[in-house]
Amino acid sequence: MYTFDCTLIKKRREMRAAVVEKQGSVPTVRDVPEPEVGDGIELATVRMAALNPVDQMVAGGHFPGAPPAPFVVGREGIAELADGRRVHFIVPSLADGSIAERAPYSPQSAVPVPDGLSDGLALAAGVAGIAAWLPLTLQADLQPGESVLVLGASGAVGSIAMQAARLLGASRVVGAARDTAAVERTGAADAVVSLDGPDVAGDLLAAADGGFDVVVDPLGGDALAAAVGATAEGARLVNLGYIAGPETTLTLRELLGRRLIGHSGRFVSEEVKSAAVEAVLGHLAKGEIKIEVEEFPLAEIGAAWERQAQSPHGKVVVKI
Ligand SMILES: NC(=O)c1ccc[n+]([C@@H]2O[C@H](COP(=O)([O-])OP(=O)(O)OC[C@H]3O[C@@H](n4cnc5c(N)ncnc54)[C@H](OP(=O)(O)O)[C@@H]3O)[C@@H](O)[C@H]2O)c1
Repeated sequence: MYTFDCTLIKKRREMRAAVVEKQGSVPTVRDVPEPEVGDGIELATVRMAALNPVDQMVAGGHFPGAPPAPFVVGREGIAELADGRRVHFIVPSLADGSIAERAPYSPQSAVPVPDGLSDGLALAAGVAGIAAWLPLTLQADLQPGESVLVLGASGAVGSIAMQAARLLGASRVVGAARDTAAVERTGAADAVVSLDGPDVAGDLLAAADGGFDVVVDPLGGDALAAAVGATAEGARLVNLGYIAGPETTLTLRELLGRRLIGHSGRFVSEEVKSAAVEAVLGHLAKGEIKIEVEEFPLAEIGAAWERQAQSPHGKVVVKI
């Protein structure tokens, strides 16, 4: 006869979380069992989490490795550890997201948040900060005195990239976007180019002042094609997204002598990403990188989701 010792069953606690109930749906808040952890992954108490375009791609099933619904959404958060320290973390799995009372995290890749820096601003150093910092440093190896064009400069990644380029010693920073007023507001651009004009390629060339050495491109589509002709020989063009279009037609004659590089955080080591987060956190803490933050309570995840879908020109964050 088999006996069953009920004391061996460790019941998982329930927690409030933002759940995508079916593919493509807006997340809603309900109780779910807290995630199972182990193998070097621990459970963090989440203070605040950020929304990013990737969350909406994952919810829509348009991202490699997107989990089947239902799942808890969110890539990153600020957690409070048992010893009182605040850390920025990125969840190790897309299936157990950060927009929840508790989330899995790896202590090795969590990055301490400097004292005095708000949770909301600290979240700008994560998914958006990495995507701004690494194309300039790791992929393009930007050198002091080089000139930089940032496409989508009105967005979270774009505005951080312009400020980072300046901090890294760029001699000239040009921001291009449809919403030129949003780029002007960052105060980080030497010149601003509209992506809505009749001759975007001509306008970029006119603003290039001899040719850009580095292009940071979160947009793809026609914007990337227009930028190639405005680059200098030896230029590095780093594409990291396709929000303006998954396809484009490049003039290969213009690409001769340049390098086109695709960046994805998925192919960068945790160590390198953590170093990028640390660098951007440092600049945020010193006020050298600025960005608008819009905060929503967890109960209003639907409104936060809608705001993120509108290209908010800042970070949308969710207080847990
Ligand atoms: N590869 C990676 O590891 C990685 C990491 C983070 C982000 N990304 C990608 O980077 C992109 C930007 O992210 P984000 O956080 O900065 O997003 P965001 O804050 O929502 O900004 C998106 C920007 O894209 C512009 N935009 C949207 N649709 C456009 C279109 N059809 N044509 C031209 N511009 C358009 C908007 O500019 P206007 O308002 O001026 O039109 C907006 O400022 C996303 O595609 C995201 O997936 C990639």
